[in-house]
Parts: sequence; structure tokens; C-alpha cells
Amino acid sequence: MRIKELLNQRVSAAMRAVGIPSECSPTLALSGKPQFGDYQANGAMGAAKHMKTNPRELAQKILDNLDLNGIAEKVEIAGPGFINIHLASEFLANSLAEPKSSAATIRQTVVIDHSSPNLAKEMHVGHLRSTIIGDAISRVLEYRGHRVIRQNHMGDWGTQFGMLIAELEEHLGEGEQAELALNDLELFYQQSKKHFDADPEFADRARAYVVKLQSGDQHCRNLWQQFISVSVAHNLDIYERLNVGLREQHIAAESSYNHDLENVVQELIDQGLAIESDGAKVVFLDELADKNGEPSPMIVQKSGGGYLYASSDLAALRHRVNNLKADRILYFIDARQSLHMKQVFITGRKANFVPDQISLEHHAFGTMMGSDGRPFKTRSGGTVKLADLLVEAVERAEHLVREKNTELSDEEIEIVARKIGIGAIKYADLSITRTNDYIFNWDAMMSFEGNTAPYLQYAYTRICSIFRKANIEEETFSAPVEIIEAQEKSLAFKLLQFDELIDQVATDCYPHVLCAYLYEVASAFMSFYEHCPILKADVPQKTQLSRLQLSALAAATLSQGLDLLGIEVMEKM
Ligand code: ARG
Repeated sequence: MRIKELLNQRVSAAMRAVGIPSECSPTLALSGKPQFGDYQANGAMGAAKHMKTNPRELAQKILDNLDLNGIAEKVEIAGPGFINIHLASEFLANSLAEPKSSAATIRQTVVIDHSSPNLAKEMHVGHLRSTIIGDAISRVLEYRGHRVIRQNHMGDWGTQFGMLIAELEEHLGEGEQAELALNDLELFYQQSKKHFDADPEFADRARAYVVKLQSGDQHCRNLWQQFISVSVAHNLDIYERLNVGLREQHIAAESSYNHDLENVVQELIDQGLAIESDGAKVVFLDELADKNGEPSPMIVQKSGGGYLYASSDLAALRHRVNNLKADRILYFIDARQSLHMKQVFITGRKANFVPDQISLEHHAFGTMMGSDGRPFKTRSGGTVKLADLLVEAVERAEHLVREKNTELSDEEIEIVARKIGIGAIKYADLSITRTNDYIFNWDAMMSFEGNTAPYLQYAYTRICSIFRKANIEEETFSAPVEIIEAQEKSLAFKLLQFDELIDQVATDCYPHVLCAYLYEVASAFMSFYEHCPILKADVPQKTQLSRLQLSALAAATLSQGLDLLGIEVMEKM
């Protein structure tokens, strides 16, 4: 059982024993400072207000009835009625020996919409956040035992595709292979756009191709399929390099909802939710009215009959509810699409596409900025290709490793550099509160000090090297823990919070909380390592084994935590 849960039960029991009604909870939280103990129960204040009595006296009564025998070594009242709980070292030591309980009591089916790039162009840095934040949360929910269904809602169905396949047709006509023509998607897009703007005949054909494609014309469909295959392959390659779990089977692109769009719009019309406005079909939402009381419009079908982003999102919603049987649907999309998501969610509920008990959650995030504080761009002002960024990260990491370490073989360096470089980029992003913008900074993310991936990976390698020196197999090692020094206690207490923390991340979907925790674990280990000798000759054997055990648990926590973030560790760096 989680320590917090155990304390909750005990404090609740004491509160009930003194006649506090059950709607008053213990409100347990980690203490901010060591002198306030390990946990604080702050429920006495709320309860006293409720019962119109003195909080400190009520806290005293709770304390008199509180049984924390064998759990706490000291419990005291502070301030207006905080109950500070200092856990007993022996209790912590014993808890470390208990099996971990990672599984959630209620297992849900969770659909996770993430990455979802547009296939018309190459993946750029704008898609990094959705890809890796969604990946981390997918891993966390899987670890908790939920059934996770990733959905990569790729944009493969917009008007640009008419232009792109018309362009591709010309290249193929000249005998070029699709792979070669589409070798650089970014260039290809620019080329077609130029062509489109300069040549009215080409532009007409491009427009006609959109309509033909969407109505199932075989020739257009073939061209489109070739384009999509190349673009998808490019994205799958990026996922692999990023160590992200998205694969081909997770793709549920916009085009896959084509068959249902007509039904969706018809249902909205039948229910009186969508009405005709200037030839288009529009849902007007009073719920999102502006300050003049004008309802917020969401177009679901254009006047020419074409469908839009909102139409496929509504169809996707139905698919996720009816076919995938989701209990919870999470969207990891840029904050700039918040209005769109609200419109889709509200409409989905009103049209009864989504029953009340299914949770719809848009987990928004801010923008990656350059050092100038503006959205991250290349020197010439273009969008930065994600592929290029990853290459640079690995190169920089290799440079760093070569500077620090001459022991590793070239082959080892290559592997380590990849893990450090990719880890650094991901961690720099994941460790920031996702709703904030952040400034992309190579030096900060590659630093071996502070809250960075290299620092955590380094802490892990330190532990591996202790075991190498001791000539002991770390993975299978097990020994009883005894806690004597304060640093041992802090480390043990931190390690025991892992599952509690994961619960929180699984609920709120903020990966930075896990990052901050892992940084605390690494720091607690480092100060333990400084103060508590392990392999020195004069350390008694029992103490040595206990410290090795604490080290092994720290290593396991770091690698498990980093793995949940999609970041790899190594034994040497
Ligand atoms: N393709 C969109 C973009 O690049 C993101 C799609 C997000 N998912 C969704 N269901 N709308 O902006």
C-alpha cells in the first residue's frame, strides 16, 4: 500500500473517532520542510471550521486517537493545527522490502491522441511536444495497467493534397520514382506551391484533384497513396530515432473517417445542432459566446460540400467511443487549438456522441521558443525540421562524450551519444510545466548539472560503477536495508514515493512532475553517496550491504522513471 494511503486511513479513523463527519478529509500532503516532518495532515483546520470549534484543540483530539504505531517516530501539532508526521526509519526500511504496487484498482481503456503531424510536409519541431508528452503519458498509463490505445490522427486529407498529387503526377510522368521526388518533402511542398501560384492551369487541376480524391477516383487515390507512404515512412523513422512507441498500427489518419463525415453532418442537422449559414453547415455554440453574446461558430461542411478538420474530429470522437470503447480520451495538442477542442467536445456531448461518464481531456502545451523569445526558427526564419534537430543533438552529445571519456570504444560512443542527445532534447521539453512556453537551449539541456537528462543518466552510471567495483550483479542483488544516517532516510523516503507520484502523473498528465521527482531522487542519492561510504574497508558488512541495496533501488527507480519518459540509460558514459 502507498504510505500516503496508509496514513490517510489512519488519520481518517482518528477523525471519525472524535466525531468528525466523513466529508471532512485528512488532506495529507508531503511536508515542505524537514522540520515539519515527512507528511502533514491539514484536515483539522477544515474540520474545525465545519464544526465551529478551535482547530488546534481538534488537532490535539485527533492526535490523541491517532494510531501510528510502528509507522511514525514522532507526531506533533504545529501552527493553527497542522499535524506533522515524522516517519520511523525502521518503517521506511521495511517498506522498501515490500513488493511495489503499480497497478490501478480500476483499469480503464484510455485513447491517447498524440503526435498527429500533417503529412503534407516534413515533421517540424512543432510536433515534438505532442509526440513526446503523449508518449510519456501513454507509458505511464500502461505502467498503471490501463489499456492504452494510441491514435495518431495524421493530417492526410486537406486541400493541399490536390496540389501535391498533381505535382507528383508530373514528376512520375518524367520517369522519376516517388521516393526520389519526395526525398525532401519540404522542398517538394515549396515547389508545388510555386507551381500552383504561377500556373493557373495547374492550379485548376490541383483543385479538381482534391474533389476527385475525396470522392474515390482511382488515379488520384494511387498518387495520394504513394505520397502518403513516403511521408508516413519519414515519420515512423523519426519515432524510432526518438524512442517513441508510435508505430504504423497506431495511425488513424483523418482520411480514415471519410466514410462517416456525411453521417456526422446529417446527424448534427437532424438534431438541429448544425444549421445552414451562407451555404455552409455550421454549429453555433452559445456555450462559447464572445463578450457581445455572439455564439461561437464551428463549420462542419463548406458551401462547396467539402469537409473540414472539425468534421473529422467529430467522426474520430464517435469511433473512439463506439468502436474503441474508451473510458477516457486524451488529446495532446498545442494550446493554440484550445478553442477547436472545446467546440468539438461541446458538440460531441450535445449530439450524444459522447456519454457523460467518458472523460474528454485536452492536455494543451505551450510553444518551443528560440533564444530570441520567439517561436523556434532556423537562422533564415524557416521552420526547423525535427529530423535535423535530432541529428544535431546526437552530434553534440558525441562531442561531449569524447571530451569526457576516452575509455569507450567508437561503437559504445555512438550508442551513448544517441541516448544522451535524444534524452537531453526530450527531457528539456518534458521537465517544463507543459502549459508554459519554453526556450530551446542546447547548452542548458546538455549540461551534466541541474535538472537535465545527462545529470540523471550520469547518476545512474555512478551506481552501475559502484556495483562494477564491488563485483556484484546489480539486477539480482538484494539485502535488508537499515537506516542510520539522515541521508539514508531521505533517500529511502524519496524512493518510496515513486508510485504515489506516478498516480498523480496518470491523473493530471503533467510529465514535469515525474522529472522533478527523478531529479530529487538523483540529488538524494548524490548526497547519500557523499556522506555514506559504501565500499571503504572500515564499513561493517551489514551497513555495506544495506547501502548497496539503497543504491540498487535508486538505480532501478531512475531507470524505470526515465523509461516512463521514453529516455534510455547506459552503464557507462
Ligand atoms: N494535424 C494537426 C496539426 O498538425 C493536429 C491533430 C491533433 N489531433 C486531433 N484530433 N485534432 O496541427
